[in-house]
Amino acid sequence: MKRAVFALCLLPLAWLVGRAVFGELGVNPVETVNRFLGDWALRFLLIALAVTPLRKVSGWSAVARLRRMLGLYAFFYAGLHVGSYLGLDLFFDWHILWKDVLKRRYITLGMIAFVLLVPLAATSTNAMIKRLGGRRWRNLHRLVYLIAPVAVIHYWMMIKADFRLPMLHAAVLAVLLGYRLAAWAMERRGQRAPLASRR
Ligand code: HEM
Repeated sequence: MKRAVFALCLLPLAWLVGRAVFGELGVNPVETVNRFLGDWALRFLLIALAVTPLRKVSGWSAVARLRRMLGLYAFFYAGLHVGSYLGLDLFFDWHILWKDVLKRRYITLGMIAFVLLVPLAATSTNAMIKRLGGRRWRNLHRLVYLIAPVAVIHYWMMIKADFRLPMLHAAVLAVLLGYRLAAWAMERRGQRAPLASRR
């Protein structure tokens, strides 16, 4: 299953490369590439966050083994998104990037989300979990509860009209974080998480 999901996660990139090869990136190819990669970074972030609720609700414990890979794919697409902005849009002008990060608030937020993802990706190996210890590792990885809202706000702020998609992402995130909060509160009281499977 892991191999199949690994290959599936590369499909968006393959599709983008295919469109580029056939010259089908529209009138503004740089914007198309950048936005497409940003969309997938955010989607993978939300998909990775959906793993634990899905495991609890369905009782399908094997799905937890996909969480790390999905989180790393979020980082991968976010890296390509930032890379496409820096390389294709700014021609690697780090000075302009720095000015953008300081001046354009949605870029500031995007950069915060990306920088915070780095330690999570860097500590995703079994060796790092061992080195940090379970509790410290878990605490560090709770940063994702900050990163995901910041990424959604980054998306929201760059939209000028038609907020339906950012709203949809925000709603999905609210459900995923809300579920965690409710599960945490109920499990503390010795109850089962909401809708938890008996399996
Ligand atoms: C975890 C990190 C990030 C995520 C999840 C993310 C996600 C997104 C999303 C979903 C969009 C909107 C795409 C669309 O309109 O369909 C977007 C746009 C954009 N992001 Fe990010 N982003 C991240 C980090 C960054 C960083 C670090 C930068 C810059 C250094 C950046 C620069 C941009 C730019 C320039 C746009 C397009 C603005 C436009 O075309 O007007 N993002 N991002």
